[in-house]
Amino acid sequence: MKFSILTIFPDMFAGFFEHGIIRRAIERELIHTDILDIRDHAAGRHRVTDDRPFGGGDGMVMKPDPLAGAIRKAADRDPDAVIVHLTPQGRVFDQKTARALSEKAHLVLICGRYEGIDERICETQVDYELSIGDFVLTGGELAAMVVVDAVTRLLPGALGGDTSAETDSFADQLLAHAQYTRPRVFEDQAVPDVLLSGNHREIEIWRRKSALIRTLLKRPDLLEGYSLTQEELDLCRQWQNRLNRLIENQGDKR
Ligand code: ADE
Repeated sequence: MKFSILTIFPDMFAGFFEHGIIRRAIERELIHTDILDIRDHAAGRHRVTDDRPFGGGDGMVMKPDPLAGAIRKAADRDPDAVIVHLTPQGRVFDQKTARALSEKAHLVLICGRYEGIDERICETQVDYELSIGDFVLTGGELAAMVVVDAVTRLLPGALGGDTSAETDSFADQLLAHAQYTRPRVFEDQAVPDVLLSGNHREIEIWRRKSALIRTLLKRPDLLEGYSLTQEELDLCRQWQNRLNRLIENQGDKR
């Protein structure tokens, strides 16, 4: 898979590509990265990439011509190139979108700066607008890194174990189960016995239970529209009965 990144700050990506799973994905040629400096497509001695907004107002807007030149170079008549603009006005990026993008062959990521990019580029050249959350960054570079990271780790062979991405949070709409490693006892807190039992079936049941309760407590919104399996339904009924008993016992004290 290829990522072409259009930015006026190409150096921001150096460290990002040099570590961990992203670095390994590059070394194994699972991903190819191409950083294009938008400035290289700007005219004139000063290679200006921004200008004042028509109609007045604060800040600067990224000029369309350098962007169009950079997009042309990046897409290079590649029919598979998907042009993505990182902007707080885009659809919020989530795991489902990461999965969909991981099926693409070539993503061209446009990192806007200042007050944004000229609307004519958005209208004529951009396939998707993506936001990484409802907050405003100083530019799209960090957002582009987030997208590259989340998409790359989904590519076959990118993670150590084949199944790692399948047990991710959100992989099946639930958060991931709790994890523990050595030591067995840390500051008087022991690891749940079942995880040391070697009983794989019991461990699997414990993990599914952990994923469900964590989702229920931390992100109940994820369960809206979620279809419980029979096993999960039985678990919820057990919890419901326990909670009912707890609440009823409180009644006596009021
Ligand atoms: N550029 C500035 N803020 C952003 C955000 N939240 N998501 C994506 N790109 C951005």
